[in-house]
Amino acid sequence: MEMKKKIVVGNWKMNPPDSIEAKRIFSHIKRAATQTHNVRVVICPADIYLVTLSKLAEGSAVSLGAQDVFWEDRGRFTGQISPAMAYNAGARFVIVGHSEKRALGETSEETAHKLLGVTHDGMYGILCIGESVRDKDGAFFAFLKNQLLTSLSRISRETLLHSVLIAYEPVWAIGKAGFVAMNARDIHETSIFIRKVLHDAFGERAARTIPILYGGSVSPDNAHELVYKGEIDGLLVGRESLDPIAFSKIIKSLDAGK
Ligand code: PGA
Repeated sequence: MEMKKKIVVGNWKMNPPDSIEAKRIFSHIKRAATQTHNVRVVICPADIYLVTLSKLAEGSAVSLGAQDVFWEDRGRFTGQISPAMAYNAGARFVIVGHSEKRALGETSEETAHKLLGVTHDGMYGILCIGESVRDKDGAFFAFLKNQLLTSLSRISRETLLHSVLIAYEPVWAIGKAGFVAMNARDIHETSIFIRKVLHDAFGERAARTIPILYGGSVSPDNAHELVYKGEIDGLLVGRESLDPIAFSKIIKSLDAGK
C-alpha cells in the first residue's frame, strides 16, 4: 500500500461503554478529518459499533477498521467474528497481532492466519509488532525480526505490497502515564531495521513502500515530532483517540506537514 498521505489510526480498544458516546466521539473526529488534506484517518471501534458508525462514516474522510478478527470464514467458533463479517459491517482495515491480543495468548502463527484472512477478504491489515523490553545488547532486534517474518509468513509479496501496513508498537511504551513515548531517533532507527528485514525477505519495493506506523503513548504534544523526526508514515493511537479534541489535534498537527 503506497501512502502519500500520513495515516492516523485510532484504536478505541474496549471503549466507550455505549453507542451514543461512540457516535459523539466519531462525529467530532469526522468533522476534524473533513478539514484535513494530507492525513488519512481510520477509526477502529469495538465490533458492536461498526454498523452504526459506518452509516455516519458514509461519504466522509474517515475509514473504519476492526480491532481483530478470526481467520475462518464461518463455523463453530463461539465469540469470534470472521473477516467477511467485519467487511460487511463496514471495516476496510483490521488490526492484527496487537500486543494486548498477544498478551492473551495469540501467537505470531495465529496472527499470520488472521492477516491472510483479512487481506483475502479485501481489507488492509495493520500488523502490530513490538518488543516488551529493550535490552542493552540489542537482542530485541532478533525478536522483532522473528515476530515480523512469522506474522507475514502466509501472505504473498503482492498481497504484502498492496494490503499491509506495519504498526511498530513497543509494548513498554503503550499506555504510559504522562504520554512518555519512544523517542523519535529510536523510532527512526527501528523503522530502518524493519525496512531492512522487509528488503531481505520481500525485495526493494516492499522495503520502500510499505507504510510503517508508530504506536505507544502518542499525544498531541509528541505526534508531529514522532512522525516527522522519526520519518515514519503515521501513528496508531490508543487513549487519545477517545478524546476527540486531542485526536483532532493529532490529525491537524500531521496535516500541517514538516
Ligand atoms: P496508547 O495505545 O496510545 O494508549 O499507548 C496504543 C495502542 O495500544 O495501540
